[in-house]
Amino acid sequence: AVADLGVLGMGTMGANLALNFADQGGFTVALFNRTVEKARRVPADNPELASRLAPADTLQAFVASLKAPRVVVVMVNAGAPVDEQIEHLVPLLSPGDILIDAGNADFNDTVRRDAALKDSGILFVGMGVSGGELGARHGPSIMVGGDEAVWQRLKPLLEPIAAKYEGSPCVAWLGPDGAGHFVKTIHNGIEYADMQMIAEIYGIMRDALTMTAAEMAPVFSRWNEGGLSSYLIEIAAVTLKEVDPETNQAMVDVILDEAGQKGTGRWAVIEAQKLGIGATTLEAAVSARGVSSRRNERLAAARIYGGVSTEPSGFAAGEVGLSELEAALETAKIIAYAQGYATMAEASRAFSWNLPLGEIARIWRAGCIIRSVFLDDITKAYETGETVVNLLQAPSFTSRVAAGEGALRGVVAKAALAGVPVPALSAALAYFDDYRRARGTANLIQAQRDLFGAHTFRRLDKEGTFHHHWPAV
Ligand code: 6PG
Repeated sequence: AVADLGVLGMGTMGANLALNFADQGGFTVALFNRTVEKARRVPADNPELASRLAPADTLQAFVASLKAPRVVVVMVNAGAPVDEQIEHLVPLLSPGDILIDAGNADFNDTVRRDAALKDSGILFVGMGVSGGELGARHGPSIMVGGDEAVWQRLKPLLEPIAAKYEGSPCVAWLGPDGAGHFVKTIHNGIEYADMQMIAEIYGIMRDALTMTAAEMAPVFSRWNEGGLSSYLIEIAAVTLKEVDPETNQAMVDVILDEAGQKGTGRWAVIEAQKLGIGATTLEAAVSARGVSSRRNERLAAARIYGGVSTEPSGFAAGEVGLSELEAALETAKIIAYAQGYATMAEASRAFSWNLPLGEIARIWRAGCIIRSVFLDDITKAYETGETVVNLLQAPSFTSRVAAGEGALRGVVAKAALAGVPVPALSAALAYFDDYRRARGTANLIQAQRDLFGAHTFRRLDKEGTFHHHWPAV
């Protein structure tokens, strides 16, 4: 046995992760893939690392090549393929071996797999990996869930390959069983919201301000120097600037307006709903992807109703208009992250995970898709040691939200009047208005529930549960 660890699944993510272990980690990595040729190609394509890459022809040979206690990283498509690999691997592994699922698993599956492996003595780890293909190769953000004792063994393997933020590795143990995959799911939900809100601002620029993609690109580049500085804003600028070599048009102008999705954003929203948290910006983002994908229906509806209003939109052109958009986006982003964090806080309570919320922001600062300077602000908010009930109540954010609220309101209102859809931005504003309203309107809902179903209500002026004898209807 020569290999420090093994990676199973030589798709782009698996191969890149293996290369990262060999390169940044200096580890000897065993490789396995069902189509053996795929594993052989990895050292062949990367001759400089070939001495540390050991492709195996059979699963038995792969496992036999690993130093004990073994570490196997499974990187295959989420769902049934993971169960299939576990089933094949378990008879070959021994108690004390670590089996890591590094894919985008549904955390419920991770909890189930963790429980199923308990008696075998094999230590199961659900590990969220973010950063796309390049991240996997050069430094992802890594969210580890599993037995805490396992973390001591994994730390020296994972810290060298993780992204670094000012020298600090973006990897942490976040809690037992499904904690790592749950946090990755929320990361993706936030990623959806972030991307949707950026796309909505792009929609305002395109349809209300009639800017070209080439005109927008430098605006996003400039925003990338300020409070919005992030990977997603950076790549918005890059994609907007790109020209299609075939048509000479902006690349974004020839791309079909239907968003794909693999399900993690939806899971985030479903889990938030199960926990009773209104992650409305995430919901809006997932729903908007759904609407986008029904293009034929949209084209028919556009013929019936017409598109964006041709009336002057009310948006100011030039610097004034653009700074309002920037401030609105920044404010909505705070609200979206507050919702994502509220979901994790509630999951932490519900599943007794004790999720380290500040630590999560810390390891999201580099490597992952939502990396941004803003995550450093969140890290600092948690580092103050004060209990953060909700990010919208954290002192470092309250003044920013108060300052940006007007811009968000203005943008949402003008977009509504112009007929430019801003589902996530308006969800952010509505949530904010609801969240900070001392006297809500659920009293009327409670009254109606009590009238039609004797569901009872509580009163403002005295303790207890009450039922009123409403007039018969
Ligand atoms: C990441 C990403 C990645 C994910 C897609 C999202 O953190 O590196 O979240 O894991 O696969 O970016 O997928 P869809 O947009 O296809 O749902």
